[in-house]
Amino acid sequence: MPSAYEPFLDSVLIDESTLQARVRALGAQISADYDNLGELLLVCILKGGVMFLSDLTRHITLPHEIDFMAVKSYHKGDRKTSRVVRIERDLEAHLENKHVLIVEDIIDSGLTLEFVLKMLEARNPSSIKLCTLLNKASRREVNIPVQYVGFEIADKFVFGYGLDLDEKFRNMPFIGIAKLS
Ligand code: IMP
Ligand code: MG
Repeated sequence: MPSAYEPFLDSVLIDESTLQARVRALGAQISADYDNLGELLLVCILKGGVMFLSDLTRHITLPHEIDFMAVKSYHKGDRKTSRVVRIERDLEAHLENKHVLIVEDIIDSGLTLEFVLKMLEARNPSSIKLCTLLNKASRREVNIPVQYVGFEIADKFVFGYGLDLDEKFRNMPFIGIAKLS
């Protein structure tokens, strides 16, 4: 294990092969569920969703579009979810007559996705569903329907595979539990 992680890593929560197998299975399930439905658009929530999106899209066997959206609901250096959600970068794609699948790294309180869902629903997509790699269900503050979950996890601060620890280590190929000092 590269020593750069060591001071920050308490333990490995989901190793690379487990992660890859689950993403492959999700891709197969999504391919089956959206078969013959019409236009599919994956909406990746930046930056955390980028690794998951890039692997997931390659396991979806249907023609589909991808697009990116950046929202801020989390302050650098502050591990508590802030109450404000702001759009930093909006989508390019139009959503009418498209089946939208939002691809997110992790759902914690649910406040970020509640906001994103409301905003995108107003643009009249054919349907809108949520796919998250990680779900901290015990932390939920608002009720949002999540159709695809990679892994249910406990209330620990995790990082790697897109998720950052103070903006770093998104490139770690596994999910680790942060060592809190
Ligand atoms: P929510 O609005 O509380 O659901 O927060 C979701 C966002 O908080 C995610 O998209 C992440 O960016 C961030 N987040 C929540 N928990 C973690 C974690 O354990 N590690 C890294 N980021 C997290
Ligand atoms: Mg995120």
